[in-house]
Amino acid sequence: MYFGGDYNPEQWPEEVWLEDVRLMRESGVNLVSLGIFAWGLLEPAEGRYDFGWLDRVMDLLHDNGIQVDLATPTSSPPSWFRRSHPASRLVSQDGQVVSGGSRHGFCPSSPEYAMAAARITEQLAQRYAGHPAVVMWHVHNEYGWANASCYCDASQEHFRRWLRDRYGTLEALNAAWGTLFWGLTYRAWDEIEVPRNPPPGLIPALALDFQRFGVDAHIALFRAERDIIKRHSAKPVTTNFMIANCKPMDYWKWAAEVDVVSNDHYLQAENPGNHIELAMCADLTRSLAGGRPWLLMEHSTGAVNWQPRNLAKRPGEMRRNSLAHVARGSDSVLFFQWRASRFGAEKFHSAMVPHAGTDSDLWREVVALGQEVAPLAVEGRVEAEVAVVWDWESWWALELPWRPSSDLEFRERIETYYAALWREHVTVDFVHPSHDLSRYKLVVAPSSYVLSQEAGKNLQRYVESGGHLLVSFFSGIVDGNDTVHPGSHPGALREVLGLSVEEFHPLGARAEISLEGGQPATTWSERVRPAGALAVRNFASGPDAGHPALTRHDLGRGSAWYVATAPADVRPLLRDLLDHAGVERPRGLPDDLEVVRRGRHTFLINHGDGPVTVASTTVPAGGVEILLED
Ligand code: GAL
Repeated sequence: MYFGGDYNPEQWPEEVWLEDVRLMRESGVNLVSLGIFAWGLLEPAEGRYDFGWLDRVMDLLHDNGIQVDLATPTSSPPSWFRRSHPASRLVSQDGQVVSGGSRHGFCPSSPEYAMAAARITEQLAQRYAGHPAVVMWHVHNEYGWANASCYCDASQEHFRRWLRDRYGTLEALNAAWGTLFWGLTYRAWDEIEVPRNPPPGLIPALALDFQRFGVDAHIALFRAERDIIKRHSAKPVTTNFMIANCKPMDYWKWAAEVDVVSNDHYLQAENPGNHIELAMCADLTRSLAGGRPWLLMEHSTGAVNWQPRNLAKRPGEMRRNSLAHVARGSDSVLFFQWRASRFGAEKFHSAMVPHAGTDSDLWREVVALGQEVAPLAVEGRVEAEVAVVWDWESWWALELPWRPSSDLEFRERIETYYAALWREHVTVDFVHPSHDLSRYKLVVAPSSYVLSQEAGKNLQRYVESGGHLLVSFFSGIVDGNDTVHPGSHPGALREVLGLSVEEFHPLGARAEISLEGGQPATTWSERVRPAGALAVRNFASGPDAGHPALTRHDLGRGSAWYVATAPADVRPLLRDLLDHAGVERPRGLPDDLEVVRRGRHTFLINHGDGPVTVASTTVPAGGVEILLED
């Protein structure tokens, strides 16, 4: 188990380094990520290098038994680079050059940036591949954090080349994009523009392809650095993702590129359900890693500095957060950052060593956590019987302008269903709609607006061979070009659900309707026409009163269920479905108790205010306690 975090010794005089390694040993730190933002120090002028200080830090760490996840510093190009390569500067969507003075200010399509990044990567890889402290490579930092898309002329040229590769001919592009609409047919490649200051009613398929292009542009930069490193070193290469919080990056694509998936997660301080959001991100990270262990590359010991109100963590909260990540598959507890900075934009961000120093509650909590976590031998996989469908393309498309309702939000439906499953103590995996689903008893698709016909067939095969599927409204509506499937909605799911939808009836902002039996619902209503499915519950009020709100379609050896609205509480429905699908789970436990099994270990994490007693008959766990209660 790795314990440690980002280490930025360049911000401190060398005497402090000696104290750092002493405190690292005291707290059980065994891994630090080094050099993430040090490009300007390692290459103070173009082609002139200064590795002396890094050599000394690396040796010092190694002498003290601390391993290094060595970074390429390419997320923060030096200030001289911007001046000598003005064409590499990031241009924002309004067409303005983004000024310097922070990290990430480069254009991902800039050949000059790519060359400079390759050069410093080559230098680092050559110099340190054989250093005994290096156990892993940390390429860049959070690709796309502030420069997911650039709108400069070079990006526009690059986008056009990317489109040529994707479509081959303009005829194919015009067909895919539906440019007949408003007579926008493109007759030459250079008629296509990046969506700088986009006018209202921009071609939706253009917007989606521009997102895909952004992902590919960043992945190409990552590959270039990774492949340089691989020529020198056999150590694993990673880059830290921002899963669930970075809408522009399609991490299903990214996950295929790294040796080990790693993620940064920051708690939403003011969200009372933030521990559930954490669990969701951890489950998604594990799923991207294909169920294999992954690394929590960054989280915080306490407050961050970039939320509106940066609430400190409560006593024990850092420990609960850390163990929840471990329970859900992380082989590390790593933080941003080791020592709180005195200057710069993040000086009010918590760290492992706070400004207050070591005579502080926070430091004592860090030491206790390190002593507990570093020696942990938690192995094995987290097994889930339930899966939730997550696809970045649905996220992008669902939230484009001009949808039936601005209340349609990708994460909102997923988080609603996920939270209900979490409170039922059910562990879930996340899946892409094209994945093999056969190992799951229940699959929930709360926000699958984009769904290809093939993916719809995949879900159908899953049901026919015995799976149980729950779909929420406004799913299966369009293909990957945001084109409505032929015929009535939901074109990709009509057959498996055994119904069609004749008309959408989104509700007003404060409108509430009810289902038969009295449950309230909001946001959405629609006219469902069963064609094989049975109405399980009708709407009792609203525009579709007397028509189905919940349906069930028995198909082959399984069943497909459909919810045509946003019930105020999805838990009763999920309970019925979990029972129907035969999903085992502990019963009678408090809602706030997190229960996860990883390999031979069962984690019980109490997020409530009072103590909880759990009978060993409720959670079948023999063996010994290895982490004690507070
Ligand atoms: C991360 C980033 C770190 C630091 C941290 C602060 O997104 O990778 O470098 O800025 O946020 O919370």
